[in-house]
Amino acid sequence: MLSGYKELWMSLIASWLIAALYGAVMYLTGSVPAAGELFGHALGILGFVLMIFTETLYSLRKRSRSVRWGKMSEWLQFHIFTGLVGPFMVFLHTSWKFNGLAGVVTLLTLVVVLSGFIGRYIYTRIPRTADGLEMDTPMGSAQASAIANARRFMALWHTVHIPIGMALFTAALVHIGAALYYSTFLK
Ligand code: HEM
Ligand code: HEM
Repeated sequence: MLSGYKELWMSLIASWLIAALYGAVMYLTGSVPAAGELFGHALGILGFVLMIFTETLYSLRKRSRSVRWGKMSEWLQFHIFTGLVGPFMVFLHTSWKFNGLAGVVTLLTLVVVLSGFIGRYIYTRIPRTADGLEMDTPMGSAQASAIANARRFMALWHTVHIPIGMALFTAALVHIGAALYYSTFLK
């Protein structure tokens, strides 16, 4: 069961620390870290690695029948932590310019993150076992019909959050290829 806001607090603390480091680099260099230079580049790469974790690890754990490492609820908390901190780092990597495809990748990232909050809310409306599996509920009562609605919304929500995530990674790979080719290797 996903209860409390632990992963949201952890994400906020991690983001504050990263923002403080970003502020320190700005103070020392007297400029906004450029996306293609050491600090800005590192933010993009590390943030993207966290986003790859977000895209893959929870799904792998959810579908794994043989290996059952860790509780599903903890993997979902980790999904949300990396799904917030990764995009935050990538956001600082942009150097506040959003032209062309890279701008579209940023927008898609924002949509997936915002939709994540809606999904998290609906997810917590559905009764679950300690391992995150949905529990059967008695039919007929008003509470059961509210839960049935939440299940329907959850299914509908999956059809938004997951495909936009895939579009985001496809566009991000093109951005990374083009950025590395034109602004890193051709320099
Ligand atoms: C989802 C992940 C990412 C997003 C949303 C993103 C977004 C952006 C944005 C908005 C810019 C500024 C474009 C402009 O000047 O208008 C940029 C620049 C850049 N990005 Fe990313 N980026 C991501 C991941 C990465 C990764 C993983 C790498 C490297 C492996 C990378 C390499 C670069 C480079 C080298 C530039 C500078 C391009 C230049 O100076 O013209 N990006 N990125
Ligand atoms: C880079 C950002 C993100 C990406 C790429 C991403 C991707 C995904 C994917 C692929 C799934 C499907 C898992 C599965 O059923 O196999 C998923 C589920 C989910 N995500 Fe995200 N996500 C991101 C950020 C977030 C954030 C920030 C939140 C919450 C604030 C969130 C909350 C959820 C929830 C509640 C589920 C449903 C879990 C379930 O039904 O079992 N995600 N996400």
